[in-house]
Amino acid sequence: MAKVYAITSGKGGTGKTTTAVNIGAALNKFKEDVVIVDTNVMTPNIGLHFGAPAVPISLSHVLDNSVKLEEAIYEHDSGTKIIPCSLSYNKLKEEDKKTLKKVAEELKEISEHIILDSAAGLGEEAEMAIDSADEIVVVTNPNTLSVTDSLKTIKMAKEKGKEVRGVVITRSKNKKSEMSIDDIEDMLEVPILGIVPEDEAIDEALNKKNAVIHTRAKSKAAKAYQDIAAKILGKERKERSLFYKVLERVGLR
Ligand SMILES: Nc1ncnc2c1ncn2[C@@H]1O[C@H](COP(=O)(O)OP(=O)(O)OP(=O)(O)O)[C@@H](O)[C@H]1O
Ligand SMILES: [Mg+2]
Repeated sequence: MAKVYAITSGKGGTGKTTTAVNIGAALNKFKEDVVIVDTNVMTPNIGLHFGAPAVPISLSHVLDNSVKLEEAIYEHDSGTKIIPCSLSYNKLKEEDKKTLKKVAEELKEISEHIILDSAAGLGEEAEMAIDSADEIVVVTNPNTLSVTDSLKTIKMAKEKGKEVRGVVITRSKNKKSEMSIDDIEDMLEVPILGIVPEDEAIDEALNKKNAVIHTRAKSKAAKAYQDIAAKILGKERKERSLFYKVLERVGLR
């Protein structure tokens, strides 16, 4: 059954858009039908990640009912489908909230996985994405402030009766000063979908206007996002053998 996921977070800048782009691209690489929608109406970013910052028709037009939904879907060279949002300043309108929910339902007729890149926090923009989704993915960084704010997002989603699919921990530097995975899991009480390390390949991908899973498939971040997508599909990779790990370490896998 088709599903709508909202990629959200308590704090801003945790890595939501990067996660939406790469989970979407990784699902697509698994030959799944995906549409990534930029629901960050006031400060949209998806178009920038895919080299389409300004498009003639965007989600803003769909929300205004001035175009058909299909006209706002763009296909990136990698095959990933996106619905960008207009870069010109947009204010969220009351009716947009209902319209986005309808749009998300319509997209389920077209695609298997609909990924909503959301705004951070508990404001109306973030709430709109959560309300329009079937499941929520929370993106957090491994520090107390980010995790505490994630807890608020999770509470809000649960109060709305939404399933929290899990947490993606991003920008992990594997430092002692960071919160441990166990502590994050204990505090948030939702499954950890994956841990994405701090990786320069992410900014490089942004410059190349493509997902890191395409620009540097062997980078640690790309592998983490591919594992997360596999988990979402229930195709978890088996525990890797020592031989595989050695090959990976010397860059042969
Ligand atoms: N794993 C990572 N390693 C290195 N840099 C990263 C990583 N993930 C994200 N970044 C960088 O962090 C910055 C913020 O990421 P991103 O735009 O995805 O966050 P966001 O949560 O969508 O932000 P906002 O709340 O403003 O929408 C970007 O410059 C991005 O390239
Ligand atoms: Mg963003």
